[in-house]
Amino acid sequence: MKIRIIVITLLSIIFSCQGSENIVTNIASPNKAVEVNINVNSEGRPFYVVTYNNKAVVDTSYLGFEFKDVPDFKTNFKVKKTVSSSFNETWQMPWGEQLDVVNNYNELNVTLQETNGAERLLQIIFKVYDDGIGFRYEFPEQPKLKGDIYITEEHTEFNLTEDYKTFWIPGDWDIYEHLYNTTNLSEIDAVQFANHKNLAQTYIPENAVNTPVTMVGKDGTHLSFHEAALIDYSGMTLAVDTVNLNLRSNLVGSENRPYKVKKTMPFSTPWRTIQITDNAPDLIASKLIVNLNEPNKLGDVSWFKPMKYTGVWWEMHLGKSSWDYGMTQDMNTWTDGGKSHGKHGATTENVKRFIDFSAKNNIGGVLVEGWNTGWEHWIGFEDREGVFDFVTPYPDYDLDDVTQYAKAKGVEIIMHHETSAATETYEKQQDTAYALMQKYGMHSVKSGYVGKILPKGEYHHGQYMVNQYNNAAIKAAKYQVAVNAHEPIKATGLRRTYPNIISREGLRGQEFNAWASDGGNPPEHLPIVAFTRMLSGPIDYTPGIFNIKFNEYKKDNQVNTTIAQQLALYVVIYSPIQMAADLVEHYEANPKPLQFIRDVGVNWKKTLILNGEVGDYVTIARQERETNNWFVGGITDEMSRTIDLEFSFLDSDKTYEAIIYKDGKNAHWNDNPLDLTIEKIELNTNSKLSIELAEGGGFALSILTK
Ligand code: NOJ
Ligand code: CA
Repeated sequence: MKIRIIVITLLSIIFSCQGSENIVTNIASPNKAVEVNINVNSEGRPFYVVTYNNKAVVDTSYLGFEFKDVPDFKTNFKVKKTVSSSFNETWQMPWGEQLDVVNNYNELNVTLQETNGAERLLQIIFKVYDDGIGFRYEFPEQPKLKGDIYITEEHTEFNLTEDYKTFWIPGDWDIYEHLYNTTNLSEIDAVQFANHKNLAQTYIPENAVNTPVTMVGKDGTHLSFHEAALIDYSGMTLAVDTVNLNLRSNLVGSENRPYKVKKTMPFSTPWRTIQITDNAPDLIASKLIVNLNEPNKLGDVSWFKPMKYTGVWWEMHLGKSSWDYGMTQDMNTWTDGGKSHGKHGATTENVKRFIDFSAKNNIGGVLVEGWNTGWEHWIGFEDREGVFDFVTPYPDYDLDDVTQYAKAKGVEIIMHHETSAATETYEKQQDTAYALMQKYGMHSVKSGYVGKILPKGEYHHGQYMVNQYNNAAIKAAKYQVAVNAHEPIKATGLRRTYPNIISREGLRGQEFNAWASDGGNPPEHLPIVAFTRMLSGPIDYTPGIFNIKFNEYKKDNQVNTTIAQQLALYVVIYSPIQMAADLVEHYEANPKPLQFIRDVGVNWKKTLILNGEVGDYVTIARQERETNNWFVGGITDEMSRTIDLEFSFLDSDKTYEAIIYKDGKNAHWNDNPLDLTIEKIELNTNSKLSIELAEGGGFALSILTK
């Protein structure tokens, strides 16, 4: 099935000394729009410049490293050798936003050598695409740099040429669950603006942002900075120099070690990436991040099937039920049955209700949180190590019965492993826990890392945790288990190499609307997320809340969108697992909008970004792989607007029956979120539609081929 066309052209291999004409120091994208120049200055300091349509978007930016025990990589380098090449392939995603991905770039591999002292070597590889660049450092085998290397800081700069409008979250070392801020680059004040009020593990050491961070220029140039293939290294935040409009890498550290990254020679770093486009939609269309990752190392992964899922989940966030069973806090009595307070959510009976509902509504999975012992002692306890074993169910949850019942109905139970960030326990339990899943035929797990990392002194985004997350996924694959991590490390396209890394949180998800004391996610949140967090990879946002105000559970919280927008999110947000997050009773009371959730796909052949502006609105059309059905979703921020659509993407010889779910005339995210109009319409390739989106609204369109 795999089509792979690989054309590798070696343009030139030139060996020469610095100053010689034979050294190539610039490289352009296949369409020539993006160009990079790499060289050393008069002090021998390596730098690069990026131009887009002949305009410098990243001006002279220096590159280097600081190490523990050995001298810096800073000055006194010469360009020793350059090798340029081109690459063009089309690879296929086992599941994804699209089937075929074009990976076409020109590469320049620059070998630098110190001109004095140990004459150490450093290589920098630039890959230049039509939609941006990626570069990484390679530390090649060499006599004067051997064994273990302790990096105290990486000095990668992005020296910007304009005071861009910037969409950013603070460079927190522990969590990405912040609201996005929109300010000029010169106004970024990450420590002051950090508006994360709901979790305790925030650590923001300086004025830095997390990536992806997206910028819009006056002439319409769009930039997004991130990284690809984050493996055995620390996550990179970007420190902001608001005076000189300069970003500088600041790696996440650890309180336990006087360095940030430990590597063994030879090694390479993650890719530093800049997506560059002249409009907002092309940022979402960009496949730069996955392209910079290695091909699939897992082989046949057809044991995982993309799916919609429901779950025993929202009811806990609303306070209808609890994760814990109400056992005594004395851990020794846990095995004798304990005594429930009667609010436990993950009971055999309740889970069967979700299974029945899912089976009836074309939904493939049921997530069960709070099924296992430990929840009485999971958060806020210093001694949480050893609390969860991930294999012992509470007394009112019959794992055998539930999994058999689900199987008979064609539904798969999704496992939940809340680690409470007690990483040593989880590491020890993983084999047993995944083996239990394999025994029951469960192929996906939602994992969680709530709270301060144990061992103390580590941060969620440092090298120690990067390895925890990656190793958990690699191990899970051996048991045919796919992973959806919450409180994760950022997505960096590793899903290409390990497709069982199916989705993750890594943003303020829907849960904040259930309990955040700051009013939840405002209407502009997702129109920003689509152009920031979503550029990094699939999001487990958990859309589909129909009971928007849920006053019967919480008077002071609500979802800040219309119901039409909740439907649109199934198309706008990409994930191979999409939750129908609301309670069964709320769906059963609303069969008409539920029809969209029943119909909508989760695995796409094609994705088209029809329109959008960062932070304002976005419309996406996706074609389902198996059925060729099309689905279109559009969302807006707190502004109402009219979206004009054309359908040239439809087959020219067909008339399609479509159902549109759009904001009613009086819809408004706060005043009237349930006002929804559903209409059947006919569409063909020449159709035009003008759709009114309410404040905080949206629309969803299903175009079924029948
Ligand atoms: C935080 C996760 O984001 C949420 O989805 C989950 O329900 C809780 N942790 C409990 O694990
Ligand atoms: Ca979370």
